[in-house]
Amino acid sequence: MLTHASENVGTIQPVFGSRYMVSPIPRFELPEEMMSKDAAYQIVHDELLLDGNPRLNLASFVCTWMEPECEKLILEALSKNFIDFDEYPATHDIQDRCVNMIARLFHAPLAQNEQAVGTSTVGSSEAIMLAGLAMKRKWQQKMRQAGKPYDKPNMVAGSNVQVCWEKFARYFEVELRQVNLRDGCYVMDPEEAVKLVDENTILVCAILGSTYTGEFEDVKLLNQLLLENNQKTGWDTPIHVDAASGGFIAPFLYPELEWDFRLPLVRSINVSGHKYGLVYAGVGWVIWRSKAELPEELIFHINYLGAIQPTFTLNFSRGSSHVIAQYYQFIRLGIEGYTLIMKNCQDNAQHLAQKLKETGMFNIISKEIGVPVVTYSLIKKDRKLYFTEHDVADRMRQYGWIIPAYTMAPNLEHMHVLRVVVREDFSNSQVVKFVRDTKKVMDFLNNEESVSSTLCAPTQDQGIHSPLDHGYHSDGHPQVKHEQLHPQINHEQPKKTIKEKWKNFHWRKSTEARVTEARATQPKKIKSSTGGHFGGRVC
Ligand SMILES: Cc1ncc(COP(=O)(O)O)c(C=O)c1O
Repeated sequence: MLTHASENVGTIQPVFGSRYMVSPIPRFELPEEMMSKDAAYQIVHDELLLDGNPRLNLASFVCTWMEPECEKLILEALSKNFIDFDEYPATHDIQDRCVNMIARLFHAPLAQNEQAVGTSTVGSSEAIMLAGLAMKRKWQQKMRQAGKPYDKPNMVAGSNVQVCWEKFARYFEVELRQVNLRDGCYVMDPEEAVKLVDENTILVCAILGSTYTGEFEDVKLLNQLLLENNQKTGWDTPIHVDAASGGFIAPFLYPELEWDFRLPLVRSINVSGHKYGLVYAGVGWVIWRSKAELPEELIFHINYLGAIQPTFTLNFSRGSSHVIAQYYQFIRLGIEGYTLIMKNCQDNAQHLAQKLKETGMFNIISKEIGVPVVTYSLIKKDRKLYFTEHDVADRMRQYGWIIPAYTMAPNLEHMHVLRVVVREDFSNSQVVKFVRDTKKVMDFLNNEESVSSTLCAPTQDQGIHSPLDHGYHSDGHPQVKHEQLHPQINHEQPKKTIKEKWKNFHWRKSTEARVTEARATQPKKIKSSTGGHFGGRVC
Protein backbone atom coordinates (compact mmCIF):
# COMPACT_ATOMS: atom_id res chain seq x y z
CA MET A 1 0.00 0.00 0.00
CA LEU A 2 1.33 3.47 -0.91
CA THR A 3 1.66 5.75 2.04
CA HIS A 4 2.61 9.41 2.01
CA ALA A 5 5.98 10.01 3.72
CA SER A 6 4.44 12.25 6.37
CA GLU A 7 2.12 9.44 7.38
CA ASN A 8 4.92 7.04 8.35
CA VAL A 9 4.84 8.03 11.99
CA GLY A 10 1.08 7.71 11.96
CA THR A 11 1.06 4.24 10.46
CA ILE A 12 3.37 2.74 13.04
CA GLN A 13 1.48 4.36 15.89
CA PRO A 14 -1.79 2.87 17.07
CA VAL A 15 -4.60 5.21 15.99
CA PHE A 16 -5.99 5.48 19.49
CA GLY A 17 -2.50 6.26 20.81
CA SER A 18 -1.97 9.13 18.38
CA ARG A 19 -2.34 12.84 19.08
CA TYR A 20 -5.43 12.97 16.88
CA MET A 21 -7.47 11.21 19.50
CA VAL A 22 -6.75 13.82 22.18
CA SER A 23 -7.13 16.86 19.91
CA PRO A 24 -10.51 18.50 19.44
CA ILE A 25 -12.26 17.40 16.26
CA PRO A 26 -12.18 20.10 13.55
CA ARG A 27 -15.60 21.67 13.41
CA PHE A 28 -15.43 25.20 12.11
CA GLU A 29 -12.17 25.66 10.24
CA LEU A 30 -10.24 23.57 7.81
CA PRO A 31 -7.33 22.13 9.84
CA GLU A 32 -3.86 23.52 9.09
CA GLU A 33 -2.21 20.12 8.97
CA MET A 34 -2.87 16.77 7.45
CA MET A 35 -3.63 13.71 9.48
CA SER A 36 -3.11 10.07 8.69
CA LYS A 37 -5.82 8.35 6.71
CA ASP A 38 -6.32 5.78 9.47
CA ALA A 39 -6.95 8.52 12.02
CA ALA A 40 -9.26 10.43 9.67
CA TYR A 41 -11.21 7.26 8.97
CA GLN A 42 -11.45 6.33 12.63
CA ILE A 43 -12.57 9.79 13.70
CA VAL A 44 -15.32 10.01 11.09
CA HIS A 45 -16.36 6.41 11.65
CA ASP A 46 -16.58 6.96 15.40
CA GLU A 47 -18.54 10.19 15.03
CA LEU A 48 -21.14 8.22 13.11
CA LEU A 49 -21.51 5.57 15.81
CA LEU A 50 -24.12 7.75 17.44
CA ASP A 51 -26.42 7.54 14.43
CA GLY A 52 -29.28 5.08 14.67
CA ASN A 53 -29.16 1.73 12.89
CA PRO A 54 -30.87 2.23 9.49
CA ARG A 55 -32.29 -1.31 9.51
CA LEU A 56 -34.12 -0.54 12.75
CA ASN A 57 -35.24 2.86 11.51
CA LEU A 58 -38.90 2.13 10.98
CA ALA A 59 -39.62 5.82 10.53
CA SER A 60 -38.38 5.86 6.99
CA PHE A 61 -39.84 4.69 3.70
CA VAL A 62 -36.37 4.74 2.22
CA CYS A 63 -34.67 1.48 1.27
CA THR A 64 -32.07 0.23 3.75
CA TRP A 65 -30.99 -3.06 2.22
CA MET A 66 -29.74 -4.09 -1.20
CA GLU A 67 -28.06 -7.18 -2.55
CA PRO A 68 -24.23 -7.17 -2.48
CA GLU A 69 -24.12 -7.54 -6.28
CA CYS A 70 -25.99 -4.28 -6.62
CA GLU A 71 -23.83 -2.60 -3.99
CA LYS A 72 -20.86 -3.64 -6.14
CA LEU A 73 -22.39 -1.87 -9.15
CA ILE A 74 -23.04 1.20 -7.01
CA LEU A 75 -19.38 1.30 -5.94
CA GLU A 76 -18.19 0.78 -9.50
CA ALA A 77 -20.22 3.79 -10.69
CA LEU A 78 -19.41 6.15 -7.81
CA SER A 79 -17.01 8.23 -9.85
CA LYS A 80 -19.37 8.79 -12.79
CA ASN A 81 -21.12 12.13 -13.07
CA PHE A 82 -24.55 11.40 -14.43
CA ILE A 83 -24.75 14.63 -16.42
CA ASP A 84 -21.79 13.68 -18.62
CA PHE A 85 -24.12 12.02 -21.07
CA ASP A 86 -21.66 12.00 -23.94
CA GLU A 87 -18.95 10.44 -21.80
CA TYR A 88 -21.23 7.88 -20.17
CA PRO A 89 -23.74 7.04 -22.89
CA ALA A 90 -24.47 3.60 -21.47
CA THR A 91 -25.54 5.12 -18.17
CA HIS A 92 -27.80 7.54 -19.96
CA ASP A 93 -29.30 4.72 -21.97
CA ILE A 94 -29.99 2.86 -18.74
CA GLN A 95 -31.92 5.86 -17.43
CA ASP A 96 -34.07 5.85 -20.61
CA ARG A 97 -34.76 2.16 -20.18
CA CYS A 98 -35.91 2.74 -16.59
CA VAL A 99 -38.17 5.62 -17.73
CA ASN A 100 -39.68 3.30 -20.36
CA MET A 101 -40.28 0.51 -17.87
CA ILE A 102 -41.89 2.77 -15.25
CA ALA A 103 -44.06 4.56 -17.82
CA ARG A 104 -45.39 1.24 -19.08
CA LEU A 105 -45.89 -0.03 -15.55
CA PHE A 106 -48.06 3.07 -15.06
CA HIS A 107 -49.93 2.43 -18.33
CA ALA A 108 -48.69 5.45 -20.28
CA PRO A 109 -50.29 5.39 -23.73
CA LEU A 110 -47.18 4.54 -25.74
CA ALA A 111 -46.57 2.74 -29.00
CA GLN A 112 -44.54 -0.46 -28.83
CA ASN A 113 -40.99 0.90 -29.03
CA GLU A 114 -41.76 4.52 -28.31
CA GLN A 115 -39.47 6.30 -25.81
CA ALA A 116 -41.48 7.42 -22.79
CA VAL A 117 -41.21 10.97 -21.42
CA GLY A 118 -39.64 11.28 -18.00
CA THR A 119 -36.43 11.64 -16.09
CA SER A 120 -34.60 10.38 -13.07
CA THR A 121 -34.27 12.83 -10.18
CA VAL A 122 -32.70 12.90 -6.75
CA GLY A 123 -35.99 11.81 -5.23
CA SER A 124 -39.72 12.44 -5.37
CA SER A 125 -39.31 16.00 -4.13
CA GLU A 126 -37.33 17.05 -7.19
CA ALA A 127 -39.72 15.04 -9.37
CA ILE A 128 -42.64 16.95 -7.85
CA MET A 129 -40.99 20.33 -8.45
CA LEU A 130 -40.56 19.41 -12.12
CA ALA A 131 -44.06 18.02 -12.57
CA GLY A 132 -45.62 21.00 -10.78
CA LEU A 133 -43.58 23.45 -12.80
CA ALA A 134 -44.60 21.78 -16.07
CA MET A 135 -48.27 22.06 -15.08
CA LYS A 136 -47.84 25.67 -14.02
CA ARG A 137 -46.26 26.54 -17.39
CA LYS A 138 -48.95 24.71 -19.35
CA TRP A 139 -51.65 26.58 -17.45
CA GLN A 140 -49.85 29.90 -18.03
CA GLN A 141 -49.59 29.22 -21.75
CA LYS A 142 -53.29 28.42 -21.92
CA MET A 143 -54.31 31.54 -19.95
CA ARG A 144 -51.97 33.78 -21.97
CA GLN A 145 -53.42 32.50 -25.21
CA ALA A 146 -56.93 33.16 -23.89
CA GLY A 147 -55.88 36.70 -22.92
CA LYS A 148 -56.60 36.01 -19.25
CA PRO A 149 -54.48 36.85 -16.20
CA TYR A 150 -51.97 34.15 -15.32
CA ASP A 151 -50.33 35.49 -12.18
CA LYS A 152 -52.38 33.75 -9.48
CA PRO A 153 -52.02 30.01 -9.95
CA ASN A 154 -53.24 27.64 -7.28
CA MET A 155 -53.14 23.91 -6.65
CA VAL A 156 -55.39 21.66 -4.59
CA ALA A 157 -54.31 18.79 -2.33
CA GLY A 158 -55.23 17.14 0.94
CA SER A 159 -53.72 18.65 4.08
CA ASN A 160 -51.85 15.35 4.35
CA VAL A 161 -49.48 16.35 1.54
CA GLN A 162 -45.82 15.83 2.15
CA VAL A 163 -43.74 18.93 2.89
CA CYS A 164 -42.23 18.92 -0.60
CA TRP A 165 -45.59 20.21 -1.91
CA GLU A 166 -45.42 23.13 0.50
CA LYS A 167 -41.94 23.76 -0.83
CA PHE A 168 -43.15 23.59 -4.40
CA ALA A 169 -45.97 26.03 -3.66
CA ARG A 170 -43.65 28.49 -1.92
CA TYR A 171 -40.67 28.25 -4.27
CA PHE A 172 -42.76 28.43 -7.44
CA GLU A 173 -45.34 30.89 -6.15
CA VAL A 174 -48.43 28.76 -6.34
CA GLU A 175 -51.22 29.04 -3.77
CA LEU A 176 -51.67 25.70 -1.97
CA ARG A 177 -55.36 25.03 -1.29
CA GLN A 178 -55.72 22.22 1.17
CA VAL A 179 -58.65 19.92 1.82
CA ASN A 180 -58.69 19.33 5.55
CA LEU A 181 -58.85 15.78 6.81
CA ARG A 182 -61.50 14.88 9.35
CA ASP A 183 -62.04 12.24 12.02
CA GLY A 184 -62.30 8.86 10.35
CA CYS A 185 -61.18 10.21 6.93
CA TYR A 186 -57.41 10.52 6.77
CA VAL A 187 -57.04 11.22 3.06
CA MET A 188 -58.28 13.92 0.70
CA ASP A 189 -62.00 13.74 -0.03
CA PRO A 190 -62.25 14.12 -3.86
CA GLU A 191 -65.60 15.92 -3.61
CA GLU A 192 -64.14 18.54 -1.29
CA ALA A 193 -61.10 18.84 -3.55
CA VAL A 194 -63.20 19.64 -6.62
CA LYS A 195 -65.02 22.36 -4.67
CA LEU A 196 -61.69 24.18 -4.26
CA VAL A 197 -60.87 24.08 -7.96
CA ASP A 198 -61.26 27.19 -10.12
CA GLU A 199 -59.95 28.46 -13.43
CA ASN A 200 -56.56 29.17 -11.88
CA THR A 201 -56.01 25.65 -10.58
CA ILE A 202 -52.92 24.26 -12.24
CA LEU A 203 -53.32 20.76 -10.77
CA VAL A 204 -55.01 18.61 -8.19
CA CYS A 205 -52.58 16.34 -6.40
CA ALA A 206 -53.71 12.86 -5.41
CA ILE A 207 -51.43 10.90 -3.12
CA LEU A 208 -50.93 7.22 -3.65
CA GLY A 209 -49.86 6.34 -0.19
CA SER A 210 -50.42 9.11 2.32
CA THR A 211 -47.25 9.75 4.29
CA TYR A 212 -49.28 9.63 7.50
CA THR A 213 -51.10 6.34 7.08
CA GLY A 214 -50.07 4.79 3.77
CA GLU A 215 -53.68 4.98 2.60
CA PHE A 216 -54.31 5.45 -1.14
CA GLU A 217 -56.41 8.41 -2.20
CA ASP A 218 -59.27 7.71 -4.58
CA VAL A 219 -57.74 8.86 -7.86
CA LYS A 220 -60.43 7.23 -9.96
CA LEU A 221 -63.23 9.14 -8.25
CA LEU A 222 -61.22 12.35 -8.40
CA ASN A 223 -60.70 11.82 -12.13
CA GLN A 224 -64.41 11.27 -12.68
CA LEU A 225 -65.47 14.32 -10.65
CA LEU A 226 -62.90 16.52 -12.35
CA LEU A 227 -63.95 15.29 -15.79
CA GLU A 228 -67.50 16.32 -14.97
CA ASN A 229 -66.32 19.65 -13.62
CA ASN A 230 -64.15 20.30 -16.67
CA GLN A 231 -67.03 19.49 -18.96
CA LYS A 232 -69.32 21.87 -17.06
CA THR A 233 -66.84 24.75 -16.84
CA GLY A 234 -64.70 24.34 -19.93
CA TRP A 235 -61.55 24.19 -17.80
CA ASP A 236 -58.95 21.48 -18.14
CA THR A 237 -57.85 20.82 -14.56
CA PRO A 238 -55.30 17.97 -14.61
CA ILE A 239 -54.24 15.49 -11.91
CA HIS A 240 -50.73 14.81 -10.75
CA VAL A 241 -50.35 11.60 -8.75
CA ASP A 242 -47.78 11.70 -5.98
CA ALA A 243 -47.00 7.99 -5.94
CA ALA A 244 -43.75 8.46 -4.00
CA SER A 245 -44.27 5.24 -2.06
CA GLY A 246 -47.33 3.65 -3.65
CA GLY A 247 -46.03 3.74 -7.23
CA PHE A 248 -44.07 0.54 -6.70
CA ILE A 249 -46.75 -1.06 -4.53
CA ALA A 250 -50.02 -0.66 -6.44
CA PRO A 251 -48.90 -2.16 -9.78
CA PHE A 252 -47.79 -5.35 -8.05
CA LEU A 253 -50.33 -5.81 -5.26
CA TYR A 254 -53.40 -4.17 -6.78
CA PRO A 255 -52.94 -4.34 -10.57
CA GLU A 256 -56.65 -3.77 -11.11
CA LEU A 257 -56.68 -0.51 -9.16
CA GLU A 258 -56.98 2.39 -11.61
CA TRP A 259 -54.91 5.28 -10.35
CA ASP A 260 -52.41 5.94 -13.15
CA PHE A 261 -52.34 6.93 -16.83
CA ARG A 262 -55.37 4.69 -17.40
CA LEU A 263 -57.26 7.73 -16.09
CA PRO A 264 -57.31 10.49 -18.74
CA LEU A 265 -56.72 13.43 -16.39
CA VAL A 266 -53.59 11.91 -14.85
CA ARG A 267 -50.91 13.84 -16.72
CA SER A 268 -47.84 13.14 -14.60
CA ILE A 269 -46.72 10.81 -11.82
CA ASN A 270 -43.75 10.84 -9.49
CA VAL A 271 -42.35 7.82 -7.70
CA SER A 272 -39.36 7.38 -5.39
CA GLY A 273 -36.94 4.77 -6.67
CA HIS A 274 -35.41 4.86 -3.22
CA LYS A 275 -38.58 3.79 -1.42
CA TYR A 276 -40.38 0.71 -2.68
CA GLY A 277 -38.35 0.94 -5.90
CA LEU A 278 -35.81 -0.78 -3.61
CA VAL A 279 -32.76 1.44 -4.21
CA TYR A 280 -30.75 3.28 -1.54
CA ALA A 281 -31.51 6.99 -1.00
CA GLY A 282 -30.81 9.15 -4.05
CA VAL A 283 -33.21 8.35 -6.88
CA GLY A 284 -36.72 9.38 -7.89
CA TRP A 285 -38.65 9.47 -11.14
CA VAL A 286 -41.12 11.73 -12.87
CA ILE A 287 -43.08 10.42 -15.82
CA TRP A 288 -45.35 12.44 -18.12
CA ARG A 289 -48.29 10.96 -19.93
CA SER A 290 -46.92 12.20 -23.27
CA LYS A 291 -44.62 14.80 -24.81
CA ALA A 292 -47.51 17.26 -24.92
CA GLU A 293 -47.49 17.51 -21.11
CA LEU A 294 -43.90 18.73 -20.85
CA PRO A 295 -43.64 22.29 -22.24
CA GLU A 296 -40.71 22.57 -24.62
CA GLU A 297 -39.64 25.85 -22.96
CA LEU A 298 -38.65 23.87 -19.83
CA ILE A 299 -36.27 21.57 -21.65
CA PHE A 300 -32.71 22.84 -21.79
CA HIS A 301 -30.71 21.77 -24.79
CA ILE A 302 -27.24 22.33 -23.49
CA ASN A 303 -24.07 22.13 -25.45
CA TYR A 304 -21.80 20.40 -22.99
CA LEU A 305 -18.56 18.52 -23.53
CA GLY A 306 -19.21 18.18 -27.23
CA ALA A 307 -22.83 17.12 -27.37
CA ILE A 308 -26.25 18.73 -27.37
CA GLN A 309 -28.16 17.28 -24.43
CA PRO A 310 -31.77 17.85 -23.52
CA THR A 311 -32.17 18.09 -19.75
CA PHE A 312 -35.00 18.94 -17.44
CA THR A 313 -33.77 18.63 -13.88
CA LEU A 314 -33.07 21.13 -11.13
CA ASN A 315 -29.53 19.97 -10.50
CA PHE A 316 -26.72 19.65 -13.00
CA SER A 317 -24.12 17.21 -11.64
CA ARG A 318 -25.09 14.16 -9.64
CA GLY A 319 -24.13 10.54 -9.16
CA SER A 320 -24.95 7.74 -11.59
CA SER A 321 -24.97 4.87 -9.14
CA HIS A 322 -28.60 5.01 -8.13
CA VAL A 323 -29.96 5.03 -11.66
CA ILE A 324 -27.77 2.02 -12.40
CA ALA A 325 -28.96 0.35 -9.19
CA GLN A 326 -32.57 0.96 -10.21
CA TYR A 327 -31.98 -0.80 -13.51
CA TYR A 328 -30.33 -3.70 -11.67
CA GLN A 329 -33.43 -4.09 -9.50
CA PHE A 330 -35.75 -3.95 -12.51
CA ILE A 331 -33.97 -6.68 -14.45
CA ARG A 332 -33.11 -8.73 -11.36
CA LEU A 333 -36.60 -8.77 -9.86
CA GLY A 334 -39.01 -8.19 -12.69
CA ILE A 335 -42.71 -8.23 -11.95
CA GLU A 336 -42.37 -11.57 -10.20
CA GLY A 337 -39.73 -10.40 -7.73
CA TYR A 338 -41.36 -7.05 -6.95
CA THR A 339 -44.69 -8.81 -6.40
CA LEU A 340 -43.13 -11.32 -3.98
CA ILE A 341 -41.36 -8.61 -2.01
CA MET A 342 -44.38 -6.30 -1.82
CA LYS A 343 -46.56 -9.22 -0.78
CA ASN A 344 -44.12 -10.04 2.02
CA CYS A 345 -44.13 -6.43 3.18
CA GLN A 346 -47.91 -6.40 3.15
CA ASP A 347 -48.16 -9.72 5.05
CA ASN A 348 -45.71 -8.48 7.67
CA ALA A 349 -47.57 -5.18 8.01
CA GLN A 350 -50.86 -6.99 8.49
CA HIS A 351 -49.29 -9.37 11.00
CA LEU A 352 -47.86 -6.44 12.94
CA ALA A 353 -51.18 -4.57 12.88
CA GLN A 354 -52.98 -7.68 14.11
CA LYS A 355 -50.53 -8.27 16.96
CA LEU A 356 -50.61 -4.65 18.07
CA LYS A 357 -54.39 -4.74 18.02
CA GLU A 358 -54.42 -7.94 20.08
CA THR A 359 -52.54 -6.19 22.88
CA GLY A 360 -55.76 -4.26 23.49
CA MET A 361 -53.72 -1.09 23.85
CA PHE A 362 -53.75 0.36 20.35
CA ASN A 363 -56.16 1.54 17.68
CA ILE A 364 -54.96 0.65 14.20
CA ILE A 365 -55.50 3.66 11.94
CA SER A 366 -53.89 2.48 8.71
CA LYS A 367 -55.90 0.43 6.23
CA GLU A 368 -55.09 -3.03 4.92
CA ILE A 369 -54.96 -1.74 1.35
CA GLY A 370 -52.24 0.79 0.77
CA VAL A 371 -48.55 1.17 1.42
CA PRO A 372 -47.43 -1.42 4.00
CA VAL A 373 -47.44 0.98 6.90
CA VAL A 374 -48.91 0.46 10.35
CA THR A 375 -50.16 3.67 11.94
CA TYR A 376 -51.54 3.27 15.43
CA SER A 377 -52.48 5.26 18.47
CA LEU A 378 -53.07 4.54 22.15
CA ILE A 379 -56.57 3.53 23.18
CA LYS A 380 -57.63 6.22 25.58
CA LYS A 381 -61.35 5.54 25.83
CA ASP A 382 -62.61 6.05 29.42
CA ARG A 383 -59.07 6.40 30.68
CA LYS A 384 -56.62 9.15 31.34
CA LEU A 385 -53.16 8.03 30.41
CA TYR A 386 -50.12 9.71 31.91
CA PHE A 387 -48.08 9.06 28.83
CA THR A 388 -48.48 9.64 25.14
CA GLU A 389 -47.51 8.03 21.87
CA HIS A 390 -44.35 10.10 22.10
CA ASP A 391 -43.33 8.24 25.27
CA VAL A 392 -43.92 4.93 23.58
CA ALA A 393 -41.67 5.97 20.68
CA ASP A 394 -39.10 7.30 23.10
CA ARG A 395 -38.90 4.11 25.12
CA MET A 396 -38.90 1.87 22.05
CA ARG A 397 -35.65 3.61 21.21
CA GLN A 398 -34.10 1.91 24.20
CA TYR A 399 -34.65 -1.43 22.49
CA GLY A 400 -33.08 -0.05 19.32
CA TRP A 401 -36.32 0.62 17.42
CA ILE A 402 -36.71 4.00 15.79
CA ILE A 403 -40.37 4.86 15.25
CA PRO A 404 -41.86 8.30 14.82
CA ALA A 405 -44.68 9.67 16.93
CA TYR A 406 -46.44 12.64 15.43
CA THR A 407 -49.68 14.54 15.22
CA MET A 408 -51.92 14.08 12.22
CA ALA A 409 -52.39 16.68 9.49
CA PRO A 410 -54.13 20.06 10.00
CA ASN A 411 -57.60 19.78 11.51
CA LEU A 412 -56.64 16.49 13.17
CA GLU A 413 -53.78 17.75 15.31
CA HIS A 414 -55.46 16.29 18.37
CA MET A 415 -54.61 12.83 17.02
CA HIS A 416 -51.22 11.56 18.05
CA VAL A 417 -50.02 8.49 16.24
CA LEU A 418 -47.10 6.12 15.90
CA ARG A 419 -46.05 4.73 12.56
CA VAL A 420 -44.05 1.71 11.44
CA VAL A 421 -43.05 1.54 7.79
CA VAL A 422 -42.67 -2.10 6.83
CA ARG A 423 -39.87 -2.37 4.33
CA GLU A 424 -38.40 -5.34 2.53
CA ASP A 425 -35.85 -5.92 5.27
CA PHE A 426 -38.35 -5.90 8.16
CA SER A 427 -38.88 -9.61 8.54
CA ASN A 428 -41.57 -11.57 10.31
CA SER A 429 -39.19 -12.41 13.15
CA GLN A 430 -38.59 -8.68 13.60
CA VAL A 431 -42.34 -8.20 13.79
CA VAL A 432 -42.40 -10.70 16.67
CA LYS A 433 -39.55 -8.92 18.46
CA PHE A 434 -41.10 -5.53 17.86
CA VAL A 435 -44.38 -6.63 19.44
CA ARG A 436 -42.52 -8.21 22.35
CA ASP A 437 -40.65 -4.96 22.98
CA THR A 438 -43.81 -2.91 22.60
CA LYS A 439 -45.42 -4.98 25.36
CA LYS A 440 -42.41 -4.41 27.61
CA VAL A 441 -42.58 -0.68 26.95
CA MET A 442 -46.28 -0.59 27.69
CA ASP A 443 -45.78 -2.52 30.92
CA PHE A 444 -43.19 0.01 31.92
CA LEU A 445 -45.28 3.03 31.02
CA ASN A 446 -48.38 1.58 32.63
CA ASN A 447 -46.50 1.22 35.86
CA GLU A 448 -47.57 4.09 38.06
CA GLU A 449 -44.42 4.39 40.11
CA SER A 450 -41.97 4.35 37.27
CA VAL A 451 -43.95 6.72 35.15
CA SER A 452 -44.68 9.17 37.89
CA SER A 453 -41.08 9.24 38.93
CA THR A 454 -39.42 9.19 35.61
CA LEU A 455 -41.73 11.05 33.31
CA CYS A 456 -43.29 13.56 35.60
CA ALA A 457 -40.31 14.93 37.45
CA PRO A 458 -39.30 18.51 36.79
CA THR A 459 -36.57 18.60 34.26
CA GLN A 460 -33.32 20.47 34.06
CA ASP A 461 -31.91 18.80 31.01
CA GLN A 462 -32.91 21.36 28.44
CA GLY A 463 -29.81 20.33 26.52
CA ILE A 464 -31.50 17.10 25.45
CA HIS A 465 -33.65 17.81 22.47
CA SER A 466 -36.81 16.04 21.64
CA PRO A 467 -36.78 14.38 18.24
CA LEU A 468 -39.61 16.76 17.46
CA ASP A 469 -37.45 19.82 17.65
CA HIS A 470 -36.55 20.15 14.02
CA GLY A 471 -39.92 21.06 12.57
CA TYR A 472 -40.30 18.14 10.19
CA HIS A 473 -39.84 14.39 10.47
CA SER A 474 -37.28 12.76 8.24
CA ASP A 475 -39.99 11.85 5.77
CA GLY A 476 -41.34 15.35 5.66
CA HIS A 477 -44.48 15.46 7.70
CA PRO A 478 -44.66 18.28 10.21
CA GLN A 479 -43.52 17.73 13.73
CA VAL A 480 -44.97 19.32 16.77
CA LYS A 481 -42.88 21.05 19.36
CA HIS A 482 -42.91 19.68 22.85
CA GLU A 483 -44.44 22.93 24.16
CA GLN A 484 -47.24 22.61 21.63
CA LEU A 485 -47.95 19.09 22.83
CA HIS A 486 -47.83 19.98 26.49
CA PRO A 487 -48.60 23.66 26.81
CA GLN A 488 -49.42 23.15 30.48
CA ILE A 489 -45.86 22.28 31.39
CA ASN A 490 -44.23 24.50 33.90
CA HIS A 491 -40.70 23.37 34.58
CA GLU A 492 -40.44 25.53 37.71
CA GLN A 493 -43.04 23.55 39.65
CA PRO A 494 -41.72 21.35 42.46
CA LYS A 495 -42.62 17.61 42.56
CA LYS A 496 -46.02 17.04 44.18
CA THR A 497 -48.78 14.59 43.54
CA ILE A 498 -48.89 12.44 40.46
CA LYS A 499 -51.41 14.72 38.83
CA GLU A 500 -49.35 17.77 39.57
CA LYS A 501 -46.25 15.99 38.46
CA TRP A 502 -48.02 15.31 35.20
CA LYS A 503 -48.00 19.00 34.59
CA ASN A 504 -44.22 18.81 34.60
CA PHE A 505 -44.23 15.83 32.36
CA HIS A 506 -41.12 15.52 30.26
CA TRP A 507 -40.99 12.47 28.20
CA ARG A 508 -37.27 12.60 27.54
CA LYS A 509 -36.62 11.80 31.18
CA SER A 510 -37.63 8.18 30.86
CA THR A 511 -34.19 6.64 31.21
CA GLU A 512 -33.33 3.41 32.97
CA ALA A 513 -31.24 5.37 35.45
CA ARG A 514 -34.27 7.33 36.53
CA VAL A 515 -36.32 4.16 36.85
CA THR A 516 -33.76 2.63 39.13
CA GLU A 517 -33.56 5.84 41.13
CA ALA A 518 -37.34 6.04 41.31
CA ARG A 519 -37.68 2.49 42.53
CA ALA A 520 -35.03 3.08 45.20
CA THR A 521 -36.54 6.30 46.47
CA GLN A 522 -40.22 5.32 46.21
CA PRO A 523 -40.49 1.79 47.54
CA LYS A 524 -44.23 1.54 46.81
CA LYS A 525 -45.32 -1.80 45.46
CA ILE A 526 -44.96 -1.80 41.69
CA LYS A 527 -47.94 -3.34 39.94
CA SER A 528 -47.24 -6.54 38.09
CA SER A 529 -46.99 -6.23 34.37
CA THR A 530 -49.49 -9.06 34.08
CA GLY A 531 -52.00 -7.17 36.17
CA GLY A 532 -53.74 -5.44 33.26
CA HIS A 533 -52.26 -3.27 30.58
CA PHE A 534 -53.70 -0.06 31.89
CA GLY A 535 -53.56 -1.07 35.53
CA GLY A 536 -51.54 1.75 37.00
CA ARG A 537 -52.38 4.65 34.77
CA VAL A 538 -56.13 4.92 34.92
CA CYS A 539 -57.29 8.16 36.38
C1 LIG B 1 -46.31 11.14 -0.43
C2 LIG B 1 -44.88 11.61 -0.48
N1 LIG B 1 -44.52 12.51 -1.41
C3 LIG B 1 -43.26 12.95 -1.51
C4 LIG B 1 -42.28 12.51 -0.66
C5 LIG B 1 -40.87 13.04 -0.81
O1 LIG B 1 -40.12 12.01 -1.38
P1 LIG B 1 -38.53 12.01 -1.47
O2 LIG B 1 -38.06 11.73 -0.09
O3 LIG B 1 -38.25 10.90 -2.42
O4 LIG B 1 -38.09 13.34 -1.97
C6 LIG B 1 -42.61 11.57 0.34
C7 LIG B 1 -41.60 11.10 1.29
O5 LIG B 1 -41.87 10.37 2.20
C8 LIG B 1 -43.94 11.10 0.42
O6 LIG B 1 -44.31 10.21 1.34
